[in-house]
Amino acid sequence: MQIPEHGRSKSEIMAQLESYKTGDLPWHSGRIMAYVYDPGKEVLDTARDAYMMYLCESGLDFTTFPSVMRLEREVVRMIINLLRGDADVVGNMTSGGTESILLAIKTARDWARATRPEIKSPEMILPLTAHPAFHKACAYFDIKPVVVGYDKTTFLADVEAMRAAITPNTLVLVASAPGYAQGVIDPVRDIASLAAEHGLWCHVDACVGGIHLSLMREMGYPLPDFDFSVPGVTSISTDMHKFGYAPKNASVIMYRNKEFRKHQFFACLQTTSYALINPTILSSKTAGPMAGSWATLNKLGRDGYRKIVEETQAATEKLVAGVNAIEGLRVLGKPDMCLFSFASDSVNLFQVAEEMGRRGWYVQPQFSTPYSPYNLHLTVNHSSVGFTEALLADLREAVSLVKKSDSHIDVETVREQISQLIAADPEHARETILAMGGVSGEGLPDSMVMINTVLECLPYPIAEELLKEYLNDLYR
Ligand SMILES: Cc1ncc(COP(=O)(O)O)c(C=O)c1O
Repeated sequence: MQIPEHGRSKSEIMAQLESYKTGDLPWHSGRIMAYVYDPGKEVLDTARDAYMMYLCESGLDFTTFPSVMRLEREVVRMIINLLRGDADVVGNMTSGGTESILLAIKTARDWARATRPEIKSPEMILPLTAHPAFHKACAYFDIKPVVVGYDKTTFLADVEAMRAAITPNTLVLVASAPGYAQGVIDPVRDIASLAAEHGLWCHVDACVGGIHLSLMREMGYPLPDFDFSVPGVTSISTDMHKFGYAPKNASVIMYRNKEFRKHQFFACLQTTSYALINPTILSSKTAGPMAGSWATLNKLGRDGYRKIVEETQAATEKLVAGVNAIEGLRVLGKPDMCLFSFASDSVNLFQVAEEMGRRGWYVQPQFSTPYSPYNLHLTVNHSSVGFTEALLADLREAVSLVKKSDSHIDVETVREQISQLIAADPEHARETILAMGGVSGEGLPDSMVMINTVLECLPYPIAEELLKEYLNDLYR
């Protein structure tokens, strides 16, 4: 493809873009049970206008657009106050949960270089339930991930295993509030106190939960503490673009005080170009997410958010009870907020997800670990609250259809086949396994059932390599 020789009309361009979107999921339908946080048209219109007002203002140089810094400071302070930080707590806006986590870990590493030079090869202790962004941070910043297990029933991090994993190289302990997969809050008090006992950094990943859980707490829902009220918590990440209902890309990274945060910043005066001084990873960046977040917080207000929280929690309770009532399905753990997952011993859930897709739903496959089975995840956002009965009816139908179907795929049989293939001929198993998954590298697959089944059955280092190869082919 080449850049068109002559510019085209706006109407032509917009029509083409509309046509490109026909295969996308309808994110505003209330039926997409992951990725989507839809505050409704009125709030979205305000956020969109604010975003567009700041689309081209750059966050690169705060001296040229002082209002951008003001927006950032006001959003960050509102979130710090919500998470019970005192006047010493500081923060910045980033492009999302991943950037917030990358920055927290880079900051911890550089803090240790300055204050704990005896740590030569830094290690991060994290439960298996922590988000993959922590593994990405380890890969980017050359930190060794030391992964510990969790309770098979409650999905709570195993704090004693974290204690046992501490070495002279340990730098940071991770807790989630909640973990994305099952929506369960880790024992943050215990993890933070363990960190404090050993002089370690404790990061709380409240990317998905920071705002929703804080409002639940204020409204009297019984919840364990996870925020700056907990001694020993060093940094917290909280996303505006999740349950803050703001447009992407917007997250907040917060530190207990400026002494920690100073290791986040970067300045460079060593080149022929301008003085570079960046609080976060990006340099040039649109100020749209800051304005969009600021506008969303102001448009919804605490009462708007409380209404969202109350209705979303009520819908989640109905869904959890409804899923548990379907024969063969069981909700994993006891979700603390509006995210949960369910497993089955009798039906292939990847096929159930596909059947749900045919009925207009998106439910998200998640894979097994040595502690828990593969499962389907649901994030309940406010736009889904009116659809609980419809979802449960379709789920019941999908489960019974897959159970009765002649083409029911038994995951354990596939697991056995794959392990035999790898044992017999590890070199050439790849092609056969890819063929089993129906993966060709030619565009997106029509069905995800066999791909997910194969991913579930492969050892994760092999699966990760295959996924990267596939992506490398796809982005041509
Ligand atoms: C708990 C948690 N942490 C981090 C992230 C990463 O956030 P992002 O996708 O905005 O980078 C997510 C995303 O779902 C999450 O749920």
